[in-house]
Amino acid sequence: MKILVLPGDGIGPEIVSQAVRVLNHLDQKYALGIALEYGLIGGCAVDATASPFPDETLKKARIAHAILLGAVGGPQYDSLPRAQRPEQGLLAIRKSLNLFANLRPAQVFEELAHASSLKNELVVNLDILIVRELTGDIYFGEPRGIELRNGERVGFNTMIYSESEIKRIAHVAFQSAQKRGKKLCSIDKMNVLEATQLWRDVMIEVAADYPDVSLTHMLVDNAAMQLVRNPKQFDVMVTGNIFGDILSDEASMLTGSIGMLPSASLDENNKGLYEPIHGSAPDIAGQDKANPLATILSLSMMFKYTFNRLDISQEIETAVKSVLKSGLRTRDIASKDDAVIGCIAMGDAVITALGK
Ligand code: IPM
Ligand code: MG
Repeated sequence: MKILVLPGDGIGPEIVSQAVRVLNHLDQKYALGIALEYGLIGGCAVDATASPFPDETLKKARIAHAILLGAVGGPQYDSLPRAQRPEQGLLAIRKSLNLFANLRPAQVFEELAHASSLKNELVVNLDILIVRELTGDIYFGEPRGIELRNGERVGFNTMIYSESEIKRIAHVAFQSAQKRGKKLCSIDKMNVLEATQLWRDVMIEVAADYPDVSLTHMLVDNAAMQLVRNPKQFDVMVTGNIFGDILSDEASMLTGSIGMLPSASLDENNKGLYEPIHGSAPDIAGQDKANPLATILSLSMMFKYTFNRLDISQEIETAVKSVLKSGLRTRDIASKDDAVIGCIAMGDAVITALGK
C-alpha cells in the first residue's frame, strides 16, 4: 500500500500527523505493508518551488495507490497571481490524476446532532452521500478569462459537459446508491442551462442499467432549499462540479461539525485522494486545537474504496464513534460544559480505541 502524504498548509500538518499515527498503528496491527512517501502541495509548495503543484509531487502521486491530503491555503497567498494560489494545486492534482468522482458523505454522529443549526429531529441519523463530478464543468471549461470588449472588461467562463463525462459519474453514483438506500437524486438546472439538460438526459439513459435504483431529478435551487427543509429525503445525490461544491458545503453544515467530514476523490480504477472537507484554518494552526477526526475518517474511506478493506474501514469508524461516545471533544465539536482536548490527545484516543 503506497500512500503519498501531502500535509499542505495551516492545520494540515498537525491533522495529517495524527492520521499517520493511526495508519502506522494499523500497519503494525495487521502487517499491511504500508509505505509512506511525503510531498508538497499548496502554499508550502509555492514557498519552496514557486508552484502549488510541483512536478516532483505529480511524479510521486502517479506512483502512489492512494493520497492523503491535509488542507491548502492561507491569507498570505491570497494576493499571488491565480496560477500560484494554493487552490490551483488542488485543482491540478484532481485534473492530472483524473480524479473525477468526488464522494462527500454528510453523516450526523448521534452524539453531535445537537450541534446542527437545524432542529434535532430533522438531522438525527442523517446519512447523505453527495457524488460530485470533479474534473469538468465551469471549473475547467474553455474559453475562460477576463478581457476588454468594447472598452470595458468582461469576465467569462464556460459550463461544459460531454456525454462520456456525465456517463462515468452517473455509473459511480448509481453503484453507490445500489450499496446504500437505492435512491439517487440528480441535481441540475435544465430549465435554464443546456449543459445540464444533457446531464439530465444522460442520467435517464444510464438509469436503464440500474433498475433497482430509483432515480429522481431536482433543480439545484430547489435542492438547496430541500437540504435545509427536509434533508432526510435524500440518500445519494449526484451533481456537477460547481453545484456539488456549493451543495456539499451546505450539507456539511447539517451535521453541525465541518471538522468531522471526510471525502474521497477517485479515478476509474479507485485510486484516490482522501482529504477532510474543511479548510486549512490558519487562525488555529500550530496550536494543537484542530480536530483530526475528519482526516482519520478519510483513512476509513481510503481503506474502503482504494484498498478494499471494509473490515479496517469499519474499525476506524467504530473507533471514532466510541471516542465521541466517551465524551472526548476537540474545541470545534464541544458544547458549553464539555472538557476540551487537543489534536494530539484526540489522535491518542482513537489509537487507544483501535486497540492492539
Ligand atoms: C472544495 C473547495 C475547492 C473547490 C477549492 C478550494 C478550489 O472548495 O474542495 O470544495 O472549489 O473544489
Ligand atoms: Mg468547496
